[in-house]
Amino acid sequence: MIYLYLLATLFFVFGIKRLTHVRTCASGNRLSEIGMAIAIVTTLIIFSDQVNWAVLVAGIVVGSGIGLVLAKRTPTTQMPELVAALNGFGGIASALVAMAEVLKGVAANDALPAGAAARSIADAGPVGAVATLAAILIGMVTLTGSFVAYGKLSGKKLSHPLEGSARHGLHLLLGLGAIALGAWMCFSTGGATTAAMLLLAALAAVLGVFLVMPIGGADMPVVVSLLNSYSGVAAAFAGFVIDNPLLVVVGSLVGASGLILTQIMCKAMNRSLGNVLLGGMGEESVAEDARDYTNIKSAGPEEVAMLLDGVSSVIFVPGYGLAVAQAQHVVKELADLLIARGCEVRYAIHPVAGRMPGHMNVLLAESDVPYDQLWEMERINGEFKNTDVVIVVGANDVVNPAARESSGPIAGMPILDVDQARTVVVVKRSLSPGYAGIKNPLFELDNTLMVFSDAKAALEGMVKELKDL
Ligand code: TAP
Repeated sequence: MIYLYLLATLFFVFGIKRLTHVRTCASGNRLSEIGMAIAIVTTLIIFSDQVNWAVLVAGIVVGSGIGLVLAKRTPTTQMPELVAALNGFGGIASALVAMAEVLKGVAANDALPAGAAARSIADAGPVGAVATLAAILIGMVTLTGSFVAYGKLSGKKLSHPLEGSARHGLHLLLGLGAIALGAWMCFSTGGATTAAMLLLAALAAVLGVFLVMPIGGADMPVVVSLLNSYSGVAAAFAGFVIDNPLLVVVGSLVGASGLILTQIMCKAMNRSLGNVLLGGMGEESVAEDARDYTNIKSAGPEEVAMLLDGVSSVIFVPGYGLAVAQAQHVVKELADLLIARGCEVRYAIHPVAGRMPGHMNVLLAESDVPYDQLWEMERINGEFKNTDVVIVVGANDVVNPAARESSGPIAGMPILDVDQARTVVVVKRSLSPGYAGIKNPLFELDNTLMVFSDAKAALEGMVKELKDL
């Protein structure tokens, strides 16, 4: 059976490897699915004499059914919320596995003959004790932290009751309380172990809420990625608790890849992880007023179509607004029209455009944009100066030249240098700011034309006008 676990692990490793490229990610998903199927079947064979099949099948049917409906119904704009919720469920699953083992130990003690010495969790050795404690603590923090992240991503205002050092003091106190309860749980026996375990779970749940509350909405996707990593770490500890090597390996894979993704996102947003976790930096900043802008030139789809007539190079820059407007199909239609007229068309992909890693890639893949037209930021930044027209579709922060300043909420964040193109067309509904909540000087530049409209409607207008030319 260990060889089947090894086979499943190989499928996971190669699956994750293939997820790192747009071209191979669909097959990466398939490989991981096969790995998961092998893992589940192998586990069922190993534990076949211990499971209640009716409960198990009912659980699989109900769980898979809910998962299927959620995945089908959730629009791509709400994917981060869905991922947050799933991380939370991963966390509680690991905590429950560890708690079940604790209760099994308590029950085994109760069944001992009179006079026999009861064994505490610590008697099983330091690895088991630490793993049990960590699986419960991290699992419960992941559960409640993920649901606070879910709430914040859906626009709920959830702020921490305390500020500054009082807040950090409270977190430290809760952390120390968790360690004390963990020690009590590990060294006690009988009802005291159960009581300590339940108190530890409750305290960890409170800690999860307080840790995520002060982090600003703009940093939530980073937090979700970190919580994803936590859910993996909790699963790895649960693997130690029940002595299951596959759970240890897969939990570690999730933990490590989640941490790497967190690091990549922090880098792309020019944030340090400490900054994100201590809160404050990402807290909602005050939006600039539209009256702060001067020299705004606006145009309609007809004028943009005339501008596009006869150009030789166009770069589309998709952003969060493209996802909101669901304009991915019409942007491809416009691109195809331009290509048919002999124009070179590319798409510039910023690593944190949208609201989740790979958001733009996912959207554009939906409309079958060829992969060779998708250019990553580092590769395309040198190309803007030789480009006739850049069409920014619902992007804001990722093209904001204010990032080149030495201070401000997005200072130092790498951006797409669209302002270097001959003409920049920005399609958005108003002069409202993006996620960072700040003014965008790009809108005032002499070579910028604003098209104030829903992205889908504007692009449909451009397609129609271009066809008529
Ligand atoms: P944003 O800066 O958020 O700007 C999106 C713009 O889309 C808004 O200014 C909005 O302006 C416009 N918009 C909304 N609905 C629209 C519609 N129906 N039609 C046309 N435009 C519409 O987006 P971005 O440039 O993609 O930047 C992403 C931001 O999210 C960055 O600050 C990034 O740091 C942050 N973030 C991203 C991630 C990941 S992993 N992607 C993670 C954490 C944080 P109007 O209201 O005027 O239309």
